[in-house]
Amino acid sequence: MNKVFVTGGAGYVGSHVVLALGEAGYEVLTYDNLSTGHREAVLSGDLVVGDLSDRDLLYKTVADFRPDAVMHFAASIEVGESVHKPLKYYRNNSANALNLLEVVREVGIDKYIFSSTAAVYGNPQTLPVTEDAPLLPINPYGASKMISERFLADLAAADRDFEYVALRYFNVAGADPEIRLGQDYANPTHLITRALKTALGIFPKLQVFGTDYPTPDGTCIRDYIHIADLAQAHLDALGYLEKGGGSQIFNCGYGHGYSVRAVIDTARQVTGVDFPVEDAARREGDPAELVAGNAPIRAQLAWQPRHDDLEFIIRTAWEWEKRLAARRASS
Ligand code: UFG
Repeated sequence: MNKVFVTGGAGYVGSHVVLALGEAGYEVLTYDNLSTGHREAVLSGDLVVGDLSDRDLLYKTVADFRPDAVMHFAASIEVGESVHKPLKYYRNNSANALNLLEVVREVGIDKYIFSSTAAVYGNPQTLPVTEDAPLLPINPYGASKMISERFLADLAAADRDFEYVALRYFNVAGADPEIRLGQDYANPTHLITRALKTALGIFPKLQVFGTDYPTPDGTCIRDYIHIADLAQAHLDALGYLEKGGGSQIFNCGYGHGYSVRAVIDTARQVTGVDFPVEDAARREGDPAELVAGNAPIRAQLAWQPRHDDLEFIIRTAWEWEKRLAARRASS
C-alpha cells in the first residue's frame, strides 16, 4: 500500500500526518478547502483545493488518484463554537463525512482512518475513559463526530471488505519537533495556543474558564498529547490496516491529565513570561475531566509515544509561535 488520500491535510493535525506519511515513503494527495488550513502547510505531495460538499470534484479527485487508503481529517473542531453553531458542525463533520464515505465506496477504496475525538464521551463516569464507555456527548461537536463514527461502524458491519480505524483524539498540542509545522488558526481557542499568544502579547490576557469544577484545583483536566505522537498513531493505524487488522476504535492520549492551572504554570515557566491570567465563568460544553485509557492502542497498534512531557509539548508550540509571529512581522 502506498497511496493515501488525505482530507484536511492543510490543517493542524492533517499537515503533520501528511509530512510523516511523505517521510515514510507514501504518496499523498491532500484535499482541503483552506477554510482554516494553509497551502504552505502541505509539505508532501499535491494539494487539491476543494470542499467535501462538492461531490463531483471529490469523486473526480479520488477516482483519478486511486488511493489505497483514505484519512479523513477535515472538520470543524471548536467545542464552544459548536454549541452556538450546531448546524455548521453537523454539516461539516457529519453530512460531509457521509459524502466522502459514499465516494470512497463508489471508487472501491476499503481502508479508512477517521479523526474522532474524546468529546464523544461527554462527561465520562469512569476515568481513564476506555473505548467501550457509553457515548454521551455534551456538545454538538462531540455529537457530530459520534454520528460519523456510527456511519463507519454500520458500513463496516454491512460491507466486509471495508475496514476502518477511528482515532479518538484527546487534547492535541505542540508542534513538529523540527518546527517545520504547527498550529496556525486565524482565531485560536485552544488553551496552550492562547496561553502562548498571550505570552507574546498578541492577546492581552488569558482567561481561565471555570474554577469551580470538581477537580483538585477547580479547573478542568485534560490529557494533552504531542502532535508528533498523534501523527505516529496514524501511521501505526495504516500499518495495522495494511496487515489486515480489523476495524477498531482507539483513544489517543497518554493516560494522565493536567489542569488548566498546571498548563498555565508550565507555559509561564517555558516562556519566562508572567503573562496576565484572569478567572472567568465556565465555558459551555466543557466536561470537567478527560483522560484516555490507552492500553488498546499500545497493544494493538504497538503505538509508542515519545513525547509524553507537558514541558516539551509547550516548548515546541512556543518555538512555533515565535516563528509565526516573526513571519507575520516581516510580511
Ligand atoms: N480553556 C481556558 N481558557 C482558554 C482556552 C481554554 O480556560 O482560553 C480551558 C477550557 O475551558 C478547557 C481546557 O482549557 O477546560 C482545554 O480547552 P481547549 O479549548 O484547549 O480544548 P478542549 O478540551 O475544549 O477540546 C479539545 C479539542 C477537541 C477534543 C477535546 C478532547 O478541541 O477536539 O480537546 O479532550 F475533543
